Amino acid sequence: MQQALYHPEHGYYSSGRCAIGRNGDYFTNVSVGPLFGQLLCAQFAEIWKQLGKIDDFIVVEQGAHDGQFAHDVLEFAKKSEPEFFASLRYRIVEPFPILQERQQRTLERFRHKIEWLDSLQPFVGVHFSNELLDAMPVRLISEDTEKFVGLKGNDFAFVERPTDRDRNFSQAALDWIDDVAANLQRGYVIAIDYGRLGEEFQGSVQVRAQHRNLDSPFDQIGHADITMQVGWSSIIERAQTSGLRVAGFTDQHHFLTGIISEFGRGGSPEPPGGDCGQSPLPHSPKAKRELQTLLHPEMLGRAFQVLALEKKIDPGAPPLAGFKFAREPRDV
Ligand SMILES: C[S@@+](CC[C@H](N)C(=O)[O-])C[C@H]1O[C@@H](n2cnc3c(N)ncnc32)[C@H](O)[C@@H]1O
Repeated sequence: MQQALYHPEHGYYSSGRCAIGRNGDYFTNVSVGPLFGQLLCAQFAEIWKQLGKIDDFIVVEQGAHDGQFAHDVLEFAKKSEPEFFASLRYRIVEPFPILQERQQRTLERFRHKIEWLDSLQPFVGVHFSNELLDAMPVRLISEDTEKFVGLKGNDFAFVERPTDRDRNFSQAALDWIDDVAANLQRGYVIAIDYGRLGEEFQGSVQVRAQHRNLDSPFDQIGHADITMQVGWSSIIERAQTSGLRVAGFTDQHHFLTGIISEFGRGGSPEPPGGDCGQSPLPHSPKAKRELQTLLHPEMLGRAFQVLALEKKIDPGAPPLAGFKFAREPRDV
């Protein structure tokens, strides 16, 4: 998985071949349209207010692909929350030069607001990712055996070998959360992805190209996406040992509904999608279609979950808007 996705020349992501959206291999929340970034912008602005409207509030994004999410956030902040926009600094952590170039093209207008780094550095603000964790390499461990990649004739094939049961199937994700926790000085981590809570599960990888599921990760290597659902419980456990606290866990449907319910209230921005009157909902037909795709339980609303972690936040602070409708926001 590491080689297929991240080999410097042939990897699906590192080569720049990854294509997201209607003409690509799969959809994400970001490719549905600008509404997703606009709603998250409102959540970031609420966090900025909670941190005392500090100058140099940093949004760190990892897995920014072509920079579209950053663009949607910055554009909405500029239009709807000018004071927040003035304090906002955007930081993209992007190890691959070809993706950095693409992001710089998308974000030309906001160049002065953005810095690019190839690894995390200390920050106060929010770390945001959408579908970063599912793209991290995993081990295929079940009971006492692990699947390795070997050769059968000239073809790749899985080879099962005994393994150490204590190994976590997603060490890369655990190392990542340690790194984020070490660099977050004060603020939140918001990670959106598809996965499960509970005991470690026996998962298999999902392989997608041109909106079709492929049978094997050995099909179209370097031209297909390979992902694994996220084991939220082990990430939460590791985050807690690294000094973070759970600020909320819920599905995307409840998360976005909570954010929308705050629009237009107490100094919060007006909803995206045009003149809104008194309605808390986005208005234009296009924004409504986007909203339906993001919220509907049979579309993306249930498939995705949102984990928020916090550091040095007043324990008496109310839950973030996104967790307003979560059953027990801090009790996972
Ligand atoms: C499934 S794509 C998601 C893209 C985008 N966030 C979206 O939702 O449309 C996963 C992205 O994570 C990136 N990625 C994986 N590991 C990374 C890391 N350690 N640092 C930065 N980006 C990483 C990949 O290069 C890829 O662009």
